[in-house]
Amino acid sequence: MAFPNAFIDELIARNPIEDVVGQYVSLKRSGGNLFGLCPFHGEKTASFSVSPDKGIYYCFGCHKGGGAVNFMMEIEGLSYPDAVRALAKRAGMEVPEDEQYQSRYRRQERLWALHKEAARFFHSCLYAPVGKAALDYALGRGMPKSTLTTFGIGYAPDSWTALVDAMRKKGYTDQELKDSGLVTESRKNGSLFDRFRDRLMFPIIDVRGNVIGFGGRIMKNDPGTAKYLNSPETLIFNKRKNLFALNLAKKSKLGYLILVEGYMDAIALHQYGFDCAVASLGTALTEDGAVLLSRYTDQVVLIYDGDQAGQNATKRAIPILEKAGLQVKVLQMRDAKDPDEYLKKFGAERFRQLLEESSNRVEYQLGAIYRKYDIGQDDQRVKYLQECADLISTLPGAVQREVYGGRVAEIAKISADAMKLEISRAYKRRQYQNKKKQEKIDLSPQRTHQPRSRDIRYDNMRSAMAEEAVIAMVLKQPELLEHTRKLEGEKFSSPLLGKVYTQLSQRYRQGLEVSAGVLAELSGEEMSHITGICQRQQAAPSEEALQDCIRTIEQENDRGKVSSAEDLLALRNKMKESKGLKG
Ligand code: GTP
Ligand code: MN
Repeated sequence: MAFPNAFIDELIARNPIEDVVGQYVSLKRSGGNLFGLCPFHGEKTASFSVSPDKGIYYCFGCHKGGGAVNFMMEIEGLSYPDAVRALAKRAGMEVPEDEQYQSRYRRQERLWALHKEAARFFHSCLYAPVGKAALDYALGRGMPKSTLTTFGIGYAPDSWTALVDAMRKKGYTDQELKDSGLVTESRKNGSLFDRFRDRLMFPIIDVRGNVIGFGGRIMKNDPGTAKYLNSPETLIFNKRKNLFALNLAKKSKLGYLILVEGYMDAIALHQYGFDCAVASLGTALTEDGAVLLSRYTDQVVLIYDGDQAGQNATKRAIPILEKAGLQVKVLQMRDAKDPDEYLKKFGAERFRQLLEESSNRVEYQLGAIYRKYDIGQDDQRVKYLQECADLISTLPGAVQREVYGGRVAEIAKISADAMKLEISRAYKRRQYQNKKKQEKIDLSPQRTHQPRSRDIRYDNMRSAMAEEAVIAMVLKQPELLEHTRKLEGEKFSSPLLGKVYTQLSQRYRQGLEVSAGVLAELSGEEMSHITGICQRQQAAPSEEALQDCIRTIEQENDRGKVSSAEDLLALRNKMKESKGLKG
């Protein structure tokens, strides 16, 4: 997406970072910077910083950072062009016409509209004669008409082209139909047919209220057919970044969110008054999903099915949720397979009790350890105690450690004092291990500086360090770019750093602003990485230091060429050898 550079410059100038962030975060000045609570991960102490002179924000806790555009992308979940558009609107600026941008945005809007029409179509089919069996199925599973309306549930007829025909009639092109993922193309003759046939349809709606995809359930369980079929990934649908029913749950007054596995579970919970339930979209919970949740609550109750798969999913989800700053409680399903079944069997009141008993993460994990061992046997009892001590020793509060330690001691029938000792031993052991780990990290700079994101690996650490320093220096003192005319972005070992350098030096030579805030075509992760570099690099910029770095980059670049040439030579010799042996 390319907006004219000049337009972006004005946009950044007219949207001071502190004002843009200030709309969402209350900021306090401290020296040249402003601080507040990070909106991207739950926290109690302010580690989120905004530096007006650099035009960037950076969180020392979760390491997210960027300029005003990135901030809008992150906080509102917008694409780059949409974030630019939002800032332009804020500053009363006109967005320049841009073919590419216009067409992408228009395509997106068309897909939203198409999905809305499709949802209407499916919903109407549910009440048409073709939908009789589906309606009976839905009612038979205890979904009253009010629920069918609230969730916009529908029916995809048992036909190859019902949706294709209906949407063509509404003026959607074949290309749009293919892009929507609701239609597949026959490989034989290129004709289009419906992806969803004879299924009960659950619209997936994003937090802004757009229908972005569907989940479709067959009505007669059949081992040969997938029970659920979901929309594929499209321009508007990403199943890892959305959650079913969050559009409704975000309005809940209950103050927490419930995360379940199944669409039907979420729906049943809403129906029984727990209007804070959401479900993941047929995948394990992702980091994006957790961050999305953390925008609407700080407490999540996890309810996964009681079977082994559910236990495993719970275990995996806990750290992901906690990393997003969420407090986690776990509800153990009993006497029913899932919440849907439980509610139907026992009603809302019993479920409420279960919810109140739901344990926090520690209780849940202690329970899981308990179930692993037979504490009637001495050797197993020792293992049980040790594992519990390990877990309890990670708790930050002394009172917490005391309470849980006492509880475990009682279960295993040992004295509270002995348990206390075991916990402090575990604590010391871990501290020692951490220290050792720390030492190891200090000895190996590779590990310390390797980017957090796996997508931005550094292949040549020596060069990458010099590249980072160049970027940091020219961002602090753009005039230094006067002395880098020889250096080309292609020589950088890191494609990301090379790209950033190229953008900055081009801007400098065009007389445009040089700052992190104006960088384009970077993902959120990439942008966070770049802002992190600016915050980390403390070295004072100087022409000398810069020349040193340039030398390093060029040396490493040359060495890279030589070694790949050497590799080639070696390979060729080897091949010759093996041929020689055979021949
Ligand atoms: P019911 O069986 O109707 O009660 O549905 P449920 O929502 O309780 O589903 P279940 O517990 O069987 O599965 C949990 C979730 O996993 C579903 O809501 C789907 O999102 C997903 N899922 C289950 N089966 C399939 C499948 O065959 N294919 C895909 N893609 N997803 C599935
Ligand atoms: Mn179910």
